[in-house]
Amino acid sequence: MFLTLEGIEGAGKTTLLENLAEVFRTLNHEVLVTREPGGCALGRDLRALLLNPESDICPEAELFLFLADRAQHVAEVIRPALDRGMVVLCDRYADSTIVYQGYGRGLDVERLRLLNDMAVGGLWPDRTFVLDMDPAEALRRARRRNAEQGLAGTEGRFEAEQLPFHTRIREGFKVWAAHNTKRIAILDAADSPEGLMHQALANIDMFE
Ligand code: TYD
Repeated sequence: MFLTLEGIEGAGKTTLLENLAEVFRTLNHEVLVTREPGGCALGRDLRALLLNPESDICPEAELFLFLADRAQHVAEVIRPALDRGMVVLCDRYADSTIVYQGYGRGLDVERLRLLNDMAVGGLWPDRTFVLDMDPAEALRRARRRNAEQGLAGTEGRFEAEQLPFHTRIREGFKVWAAHNTKRIAILDAADSPEGLMHQALANIDMFE
């Protein structure tokens, strides 16, 4: 099973991912927790370039760097794990490109869907959760976390975008989810960590 988490920065994806991994492990599933960008060796170099606030990258170059990260990550990590029967939980995936580079940067959404499909060889998640919350609050949380972890100077390029950008991202996720209701479920990320996990489990077929 392949599950992905999406949403604006600071919405609590990492905590939900860890909690879901724990549930699957308790049920004796082998679990792989991974993330984009940066889920493989090549991706870690690309992540450093992509998130560095000092990188001056045009939208098209940004797009192809995210796609390169994803293509290698799928080939090297995700597909082999799924082939071994593991549950794969990934923090961000193709929907991030569609929403950030499409609704955020203004690139054409349908072309982004096709390019992603090519990058991943048709491998789309079984289920995707979008953690939805007020962008002002989420951004405060993300910036605080980056400052605490000393990441602000090395990974803050997207957090440095102003509120209108993050508001576009939030709305973009809603529009994109509405086009993909079979796969994508929107969760209310203002809920407690336990509440959020229950929202997620209620939307995974094997727990319904
Ligand atoms: P990351 O630190 O992984 O996000 P978060 O703070 O939510 O854990 O940073 C990844 C950033 O890159 C995030 O701001 C969203 C952006 N991004 C894209 O623009 N396109 C993509 O395809 C992906 C995977 C991420």
